[in-house]
Amino acid sequence: MELQENEILHAQTHICNHSLNFINSVSLICAVELGIADIIHSHGRPITLQQLAHALRINNAKADHLARLMRLLIRSGFFLDDKDGYALAPPSCLLLKDHPFCMAPFMKGSYTIFTGPWHRVSEWFHNDDPTPFQTAHGTTFWDSAAQDPELSRYFNQAMASDTLLLMSLMRKHCRGVFEGLDSLVDVGGGTGMAARAIADEFPDMKCTVLDLPHVVAGLEGTKNLTYVAGNMFEAIPPAHAVFLKWIMHDWNDEDCVTILKKCKEAIPKRENGGKVIIVDVILGATQNGDDESIQTQLFMDFLMMVYYGGRERTLKEWVKIFNDAGFTNYITIQLGSRSLFQLFP
Ligand SMILES: C[S@@+](CC[C@H](N)C(=O)[O-])C[C@H]1O[C@@H](n2cnc3c(N)ncnc32)[C@H](O)[C@@H]1O
Repeated sequence: MELQENEILHAQTHICNHSLNFINSVSLICAVELGIADIIHSHGRPITLQQLAHALRINNAKADHLARLMRLLIRSGFFLDDKDGYALAPPSCLLLKDHPFCMAPFMKGSYTIFTGPWHRVSEWFHNDDPTPFQTAHGTTFWDSAAQDPELSRYFNQAMASDTLLLMSLMRKHCRGVFEGLDSLVDVGGGTGMAARAIADEFPDMKCTVLDLPHVVAGLEGTKNLTYVAGNMFEAIPPAHAVFLKWIMHDWNDEDCVTILKKCKEAIPKRENGGKVIIVDVILGATQNGDDESIQTQLFMDFLMMVYYGGRERTLKEWVKIFNDAGFTNYITIQLGSRSLFQLFP
Protein backbone atom coordinates (compact mmCIF):
# COMPACT_ATOMS: atom_id res chain seq x y z
CA MET A 1 0.00 0.00 0.00
CA GLU A 2 1.45 3.29 -1.18
CA LEU A 3 0.87 6.10 1.36
CA GLN A 4 0.47 9.75 0.46
CA GLU A 5 2.65 12.24 2.32
CA ASN A 6 -0.25 13.43 4.52
CA GLU A 7 -1.11 9.80 5.33
CA ILE A 8 2.47 9.11 6.40
CA LEU A 9 2.46 12.17 8.64
CA HIS A 10 -0.87 11.17 10.11
CA ALA A 11 0.37 7.59 10.64
CA GLN A 12 3.44 8.84 12.43
CA THR A 13 1.39 11.05 14.77
CA HIS A 14 -1.16 8.27 15.32
CA ILE A 15 1.54 5.74 16.30
CA CYS A 16 3.40 8.28 18.41
CA ASN A 17 0.18 9.18 20.20
CA HIS A 18 -0.65 5.52 20.92
CA SER A 19 2.90 4.73 22.03
CA LEU A 20 2.71 7.56 24.53
CA ASN A 21 -0.88 7.00 25.61
CA PHE A 22 0.35 5.49 28.90
CA ILE A 23 1.28 9.06 29.87
CA ASN A 24 -2.45 9.72 30.33
CA SER A 25 -2.45 7.05 33.04
CA VAL A 26 0.81 7.94 34.73
CA SER A 27 0.16 11.70 34.79
CA LEU A 28 -3.22 11.05 36.41
CA ILE A 29 -1.66 8.66 38.93
CA CYS A 30 0.99 11.30 39.66
CA ALA A 31 -1.76 13.88 40.30
CA VAL A 32 -3.49 11.49 42.71
CA GLU A 33 -0.26 10.63 44.52
CA LEU A 34 0.58 14.33 44.91
CA GLY A 35 -2.98 15.05 46.05
CA ILE A 36 -3.48 17.93 43.56
CA ALA A 37 -7.28 17.72 43.46
CA ASP A 38 -7.52 17.71 47.27
CA ILE A 39 -5.28 20.78 47.53
CA ILE A 40 -7.29 22.74 44.93
CA HIS A 41 -10.52 21.65 46.61
CA SER A 42 -9.41 22.71 50.09
CA HIS A 43 -8.11 26.04 48.71
CA GLY A 44 -11.76 26.84 47.96
CA ARG A 45 -11.08 29.02 44.89
CA PRO A 46 -8.74 28.90 41.86
CA ILE A 47 -5.14 28.39 42.94
CA THR A 48 -2.05 29.88 41.32
CA LEU A 49 0.93 27.77 40.31
CA GLN A 50 3.02 29.22 43.15
CA GLN A 51 0.30 28.52 45.73
CA LEU A 52 -0.16 24.99 44.40
CA ALA A 53 3.59 24.29 44.39
CA HIS A 54 3.84 25.62 47.93
CA ALA A 55 0.88 23.59 49.22
CA LEU A 56 2.23 20.42 47.57
CA ARG A 57 5.72 21.14 48.99
CA ILE A 58 7.16 20.88 45.47
CA ASN A 59 10.90 21.37 45.20
CA ASN A 60 11.25 25.10 44.31
CA ALA A 61 13.25 24.33 41.22
CA LYS A 62 10.42 22.16 39.86
CA ALA A 63 7.42 24.52 39.93
CA ASP A 64 7.81 24.98 36.19
CA HIS A 65 7.56 21.21 35.70
CA LEU A 66 4.41 21.17 37.82
CA ALA A 67 2.96 23.63 35.27
CA ARG A 68 3.71 21.08 32.54
CA LEU A 69 1.92 18.33 34.46
CA MET A 70 -1.06 20.66 34.96
CA ARG A 71 -1.09 21.59 31.25
CA LEU A 72 -1.41 17.93 30.34
CA LEU A 73 -4.13 17.29 32.92
CA ILE A 74 -6.05 20.37 31.76
CA ARG A 75 -5.86 19.01 28.22
CA SER A 76 -7.18 15.66 29.50
CA GLY A 77 -10.16 17.37 31.14
CA PHE A 78 -9.25 16.98 34.82
CA PHE A 79 -8.54 20.61 35.70
CA LEU A 80 -9.46 24.03 34.38
CA ASP A 81 -7.15 26.95 33.74
CA ASP A 82 -9.26 29.71 35.23
CA LYS A 83 -8.01 33.29 34.83
CA ASP A 84 -7.20 33.32 38.58
CA GLY A 85 -5.48 29.94 38.60
CA TYR A 86 -6.19 26.21 38.45
CA ALA A 87 -9.65 24.88 39.30
CA LEU A 88 -11.29 21.44 39.43
CA ALA A 89 -13.09 20.10 36.38
CA PRO A 90 -15.96 17.66 37.14
CA PRO A 91 -13.93 14.39 36.67
CA SER A 92 -11.39 15.42 39.32
CA CYS A 93 -14.13 15.44 41.97
CA LEU A 94 -13.90 11.62 41.87
CA LEU A 95 -10.18 11.93 42.68
CA LEU A 96 -10.87 13.64 46.03
CA LYS A 97 -9.89 11.23 48.76
CA ASP A 98 -12.98 11.92 50.86
CA HIS A 99 -15.44 11.72 47.98
CA PRO A 100 -17.72 8.68 48.50
CA PHE A 101 -17.19 7.64 44.85
CA CYS A 102 -13.41 8.25 44.94
CA MET A 103 -11.74 6.28 42.12
CA ALA A 104 -8.16 6.44 43.42
CA PRO A 105 -8.18 2.79 44.62
CA PHE A 106 -9.50 1.69 41.19
CA MET A 107 -6.62 3.50 39.49
CA LYS A 108 -4.08 1.95 41.80
CA GLY A 109 -5.59 -1.51 41.33
CA SER A 110 -5.83 -1.33 37.56
CA TYR A 111 -2.30 -0.20 36.82
CA THR A 112 0.16 0.55 39.60
CA ILE A 113 -0.11 -2.58 41.74
CA PHE A 114 0.34 -4.94 38.80
CA THR A 115 2.31 -3.65 35.86
CA GLY A 116 3.82 -7.08 35.11
CA PRO A 117 0.88 -8.67 33.22
CA TRP A 118 0.68 -5.76 30.76
CA HIS A 119 4.21 -6.51 29.57
CA ARG A 120 3.54 -10.21 29.04
CA VAL A 121 0.50 -10.10 26.73
CA SER A 122 2.30 -10.94 23.47
CA GLU A 123 4.19 -13.78 25.21
CA TRP A 124 0.87 -15.03 26.61
CA PHE A 125 -0.60 -15.21 23.09
CA HIS A 126 1.98 -17.97 22.41
CA ASN A 127 1.87 -19.92 25.68
CA ASP A 128 -0.77 -22.08 27.41
CA ASP A 129 -1.41 -19.85 30.44
CA PRO A 130 -5.06 -18.87 30.99
CA THR A 131 -4.14 -15.19 31.56
CA PRO A 132 -1.17 -12.83 31.20
CA PHE A 133 -1.58 -12.34 34.95
CA GLN A 134 -0.65 -15.99 35.43
CA THR A 135 2.27 -15.63 32.99
CA ALA A 136 3.58 -12.77 35.13
CA HIS A 137 2.74 -14.02 38.63
CA GLY A 138 2.30 -17.79 38.30
CA THR A 139 -1.07 -17.69 40.05
CA THR A 140 -4.60 -16.38 39.49
CA PHE A 141 -5.62 -12.87 40.50
CA TRP A 142 -7.99 -14.30 43.14
CA ASP A 143 -5.24 -16.46 44.73
CA SER A 144 -2.88 -13.45 44.74
CA ALA A 145 -5.56 -11.38 46.47
CA ALA A 146 -6.10 -14.14 49.03
CA GLN A 147 -2.39 -14.11 49.86
CA ASP A 148 -1.76 -10.36 49.73
CA PRO A 149 -3.87 -8.35 52.21
CA GLU A 150 -2.79 -5.01 50.70
CA LEU A 151 -3.90 -6.00 47.21
CA SER A 152 -7.13 -7.38 48.62
CA ARG A 153 -7.75 -4.13 50.50
CA TYR A 154 -7.20 -1.94 47.41
CA PHE A 155 -9.31 -4.21 45.26
CA ASN A 156 -12.19 -4.31 47.74
CA GLN A 157 -12.04 -0.52 48.20
CA ALA A 158 -12.11 -0.01 44.43
CA MET A 159 -15.14 -2.29 44.12
CA ALA A 160 -16.89 -0.66 47.06
CA SER A 161 -16.55 2.90 45.70
CA ASP A 162 -17.85 1.79 42.30
CA THR A 163 -20.73 -0.02 43.97
CA LEU A 164 -21.64 3.01 46.04
CA LEU A 165 -21.97 5.06 42.84
CA LEU A 166 -23.93 2.34 41.09
CA MET A 167 -26.28 1.82 44.02
CA SER A 168 -27.12 5.53 44.05
CA LEU A 169 -28.12 5.20 40.38
CA MET A 170 -30.05 2.00 41.04
CA ARG A 171 -31.91 3.53 43.98
CA LYS A 172 -33.21 6.12 41.52
CA HIS A 173 -33.80 4.04 38.41
CA CYS A 174 -34.21 0.41 39.53
CA ARG A 175 -36.10 0.37 42.83
CA GLY A 176 -38.83 -1.79 41.30
CA VAL A 177 -36.31 -4.53 40.52
CA PHE A 178 -35.95 -5.26 44.25
CA GLU A 179 -39.48 -4.49 45.45
CA GLY A 180 -41.39 -7.52 46.74
CA LEU A 181 -38.31 -9.72 47.23
CA ASP A 182 -38.14 -11.30 50.67
CA SER A 183 -34.51 -12.42 50.34
CA LEU A 184 -31.50 -11.77 48.14
CA VAL A 185 -27.99 -13.12 47.93
CA ASP A 186 -25.22 -10.92 46.54
CA VAL A 187 -22.85 -13.42 44.97
CA GLY A 188 -19.23 -12.23 44.92
CA GLY A 189 -20.58 -9.29 46.89
CA GLY A 190 -17.16 -8.25 48.22
CA THR A 191 -17.31 -6.36 51.51
CA GLY A 192 -21.07 -5.93 51.11
CA MET A 193 -21.50 -2.37 49.88
CA ALA A 194 -24.38 -3.30 47.53
CA ALA A 195 -26.09 -5.68 49.94
CA ARG A 196 -25.88 -3.10 52.73
CA ALA A 197 -27.55 -0.47 50.55
CA ILE A 198 -30.30 -2.92 49.56
CA ALA A 199 -30.74 -4.16 53.15
CA ASP A 200 -31.08 -0.55 54.38
CA GLU A 201 -33.54 0.35 51.65
CA PHE A 202 -35.65 -2.79 52.24
CA PRO A 203 -35.50 -3.57 55.98
CA ASP A 204 -37.78 -6.61 55.61
CA MET A 205 -35.54 -8.24 52.99
CA LYS A 206 -33.07 -10.84 54.28
CA CYS A 207 -29.78 -10.14 52.49
CA THR A 208 -26.73 -12.37 52.26
CA VAL A 209 -23.26 -11.63 50.89
CA LEU A 210 -21.41 -14.65 49.53
CA ASP A 211 -17.70 -14.17 48.86
CA LEU A 212 -14.35 -15.90 49.29
CA PRO A 213 -13.25 -16.52 52.91
CA HIS A 214 -10.45 -13.90 52.95
CA VAL A 215 -12.89 -11.21 51.70
CA VAL A 216 -15.65 -11.71 54.29
CA ALA A 217 -13.43 -12.72 57.24
CA GLY A 218 -14.23 -10.56 60.28
CA LEU A 219 -17.10 -8.65 58.61
CA GLU A 220 -20.12 -8.12 60.84
CA GLY A 221 -23.65 -8.39 59.51
CA THR A 222 -26.72 -6.50 60.67
CA LYS A 223 -30.29 -7.43 61.56
CA ASN A 224 -31.06 -8.28 57.91
CA LEU A 225 -27.55 -8.79 56.43
CA THR A 226 -25.37 -11.88 56.78
CA TYR A 227 -21.92 -12.67 55.40
CA VAL A 228 -21.22 -16.18 54.15
CA ALA A 229 -17.78 -17.47 53.13
CA GLY A 230 -17.97 -19.85 50.20
CA ASN A 231 -17.38 -20.62 46.56
CA MET A 232 -20.06 -19.71 44.01
CA PHE A 233 -18.95 -22.60 41.78
CA GLU A 234 -19.90 -25.02 44.55
CA ALA A 235 -23.05 -23.64 46.20
CA ILE A 236 -25.07 -20.45 46.46
CA PRO A 237 -27.29 -19.94 49.53
CA PRO A 238 -31.00 -20.17 48.58
CA ALA A 239 -32.77 -16.82 48.10
CA HIS A 240 -35.68 -15.21 46.27
CA ALA A 241 -33.17 -13.44 43.99
CA VAL A 242 -29.46 -13.59 43.22
CA PHE A 243 -27.52 -10.38 42.55
CA LEU A 244 -24.32 -10.49 40.48
CA LYS A 245 -22.54 -7.18 40.01
CA TRP A 246 -19.30 -7.16 38.01
CA ILE A 247 -19.00 -10.94 38.43
CA MET A 248 -19.72 -12.49 35.04
CA HIS A 249 -17.18 -10.35 33.17
CA ASP A 250 -14.42 -11.90 35.34
CA TRP A 251 -15.07 -15.35 33.85
CA ASN A 252 -15.10 -17.20 30.55
CA ASP A 253 -18.39 -18.36 28.99
CA GLU A 254 -18.21 -21.88 30.40
CA ASP A 255 -17.64 -20.60 33.95
CA CYS A 256 -20.51 -18.11 33.52
CA VAL A 257 -22.88 -20.91 32.55
CA THR A 258 -21.79 -22.87 35.65
CA ILE A 259 -22.35 -19.82 37.89
CA LEU A 260 -25.79 -19.19 36.39
CA LYS A 261 -26.79 -22.83 36.79
CA LYS A 262 -25.82 -22.57 40.48
CA CYS A 263 -27.92 -19.38 40.69
CA LYS A 264 -30.85 -21.23 39.16
CA GLU A 265 -30.58 -23.93 41.83
CA ALA A 266 -30.63 -21.21 44.52
CA ILE A 267 -33.82 -19.37 43.42
CA PRO A 268 -37.52 -20.37 43.23
CA LYS A 269 -39.30 -20.97 39.92
CA ARG A 270 -40.39 -17.98 37.86
CA GLU A 271 -44.06 -18.22 38.98
CA ASN A 272 -42.79 -17.87 42.56
CA GLY A 273 -40.80 -14.75 41.69
CA GLY A 274 -37.29 -16.20 41.36
CA LYS A 275 -34.84 -14.08 39.38
CA VAL A 276 -31.18 -13.33 38.81
CA ILE A 277 -30.10 -9.69 38.63
CA ILE A 278 -26.87 -9.03 36.72
CA VAL A 279 -25.06 -5.70 36.44
CA ASP A 280 -22.37 -5.71 33.78
CA VAL A 281 -21.48 -4.21 30.42
CA ILE A 282 -23.26 -4.98 27.17
CA LEU A 283 -20.64 -4.11 24.57
CA GLY A 284 -21.90 -1.23 22.47
CA ALA A 285 -24.75 -0.32 24.84
CA THR A 286 -24.18 2.98 26.67
CA GLN A 287 -26.36 5.82 27.89
CA ASN A 288 -25.25 8.27 25.18
CA GLY A 289 -23.17 6.14 22.80
CA ASP A 290 -20.15 8.45 23.00
CA ASP A 291 -16.70 7.33 21.87
CA GLU A 292 -15.19 7.51 25.34
CA SER A 293 -17.78 5.13 26.79
CA ILE A 294 -17.27 2.64 23.97
CA GLN A 295 -13.49 2.81 24.29
CA THR A 296 -13.75 2.37 28.07
CA GLN A 297 -15.83 -0.77 27.52
CA LEU A 298 -13.12 -2.12 25.20
CA PHE A 299 -10.38 -1.24 27.71
CA MET A 300 -12.34 -3.08 30.40
CA ASP A 301 -12.69 -6.07 28.06
CA PHE A 302 -8.92 -6.14 27.63
CA LEU A 303 -8.39 -5.76 31.39
CA MET A 304 -10.69 -8.74 31.99
CA MET A 305 -8.63 -10.79 29.53
CA VAL A 306 -5.30 -9.79 31.05
CA TYR A 307 -6.12 -10.12 34.77
CA TYR A 308 -8.93 -12.66 35.07
CA GLY A 309 -9.56 -14.57 31.85
CA GLY A 310 -12.98 -12.95 31.53
CA ARG A 311 -14.53 -10.68 28.91
CA GLU A 312 -17.13 -8.03 28.21
CA ARG A 313 -19.93 -9.32 25.99
CA THR A 314 -22.29 -8.26 23.23
CA LEU A 315 -26.01 -8.81 23.82
CA LYS A 316 -25.87 -11.85 21.51
CA GLU A 317 -23.06 -13.37 23.60
CA TRP A 318 -25.00 -12.72 26.81
CA VAL A 319 -28.14 -14.33 25.44
CA LYS A 320 -26.23 -17.48 24.46
CA ILE A 321 -24.92 -17.81 28.04
CA PHE A 322 -28.42 -17.25 29.47
CA ASN A 323 -29.89 -19.89 27.18
CA ASP A 324 -27.09 -22.38 27.87
CA ALA A 325 -27.76 -21.99 31.61
CA GLY A 326 -31.50 -22.56 31.13
CA PHE A 327 -32.82 -18.99 31.35
CA THR A 328 -35.17 -18.02 28.56
CA ASN A 329 -36.39 -14.57 29.48
CA TYR A 330 -34.66 -11.34 30.38
CA ILE A 331 -35.22 -7.60 30.53
CA THR A 332 -32.60 -4.84 30.71
CA ILE A 333 -32.23 -1.34 32.13
CA GLN A 334 -29.34 0.91 30.99
CA LEU A 335 -27.18 2.39 33.78
CA GLY A 336 -24.53 4.62 32.17
CA SER A 337 -22.04 2.32 30.40
CA ARG A 338 -23.43 -0.72 32.16
CA SER A 339 -26.70 -2.60 31.99
CA LEU A 340 -28.88 -4.29 34.55
CA PHE A 341 -30.38 -7.62 33.45
CA GLN A 342 -33.24 -9.35 35.18
CA LEU A 343 -33.14 -13.03 34.23
CA PHE A 344 -36.07 -15.31 34.79
CA PRO A 345 -35.81 -19.10 35.05
C1 LIG B 1 -15.04 -7.82 40.42
S1 LIG B 1 -15.36 -8.20 42.09
C2 LIG B 1 -17.01 -7.62 42.29
C3 LIG B 1 -17.34 -7.33 43.72
C4 LIG B 1 -18.75 -6.77 43.92
N1 LIG B 1 -19.77 -7.58 43.31
C5 LIG B 1 -18.82 -5.35 43.38
O1 LIG B 1 -19.16 -5.16 42.22
O2 LIG B 1 -18.47 -4.45 44.13
C6 LIG B 1 -15.55 -9.95 42.04
C7 LIG B 1 -15.83 -10.57 43.40
O3 LIG B 1 -15.98 -11.99 43.21
C8 LIG B 1 -15.37 -12.64 44.32
N2 LIG B 1 -15.08 -14.02 43.93
C9 LIG B 1 -14.11 -14.48 43.10
N3 LIG B 1 -14.18 -15.82 43.00
C10 LIG B 1 -15.23 -16.20 43.77
C11 LIG B 1 -15.81 -17.48 44.07
N4 LIG B 1 -15.32 -18.60 43.53
N5 LIG B 1 -16.88 -17.52 44.89
C12 LIG B 1 -17.38 -16.38 45.44
N6 LIG B 1 -16.88 -15.15 45.19
C13 LIG B 1 -15.82 -15.06 44.37
C14 LIG B 1 -14.14 -11.79 44.57
O4 LIG B 1 -13.58 -12.01 45.83
C15 LIG B 1 -14.69 -10.38 44.39
O5 LIG B 1 -15.19 -9.86 45.59
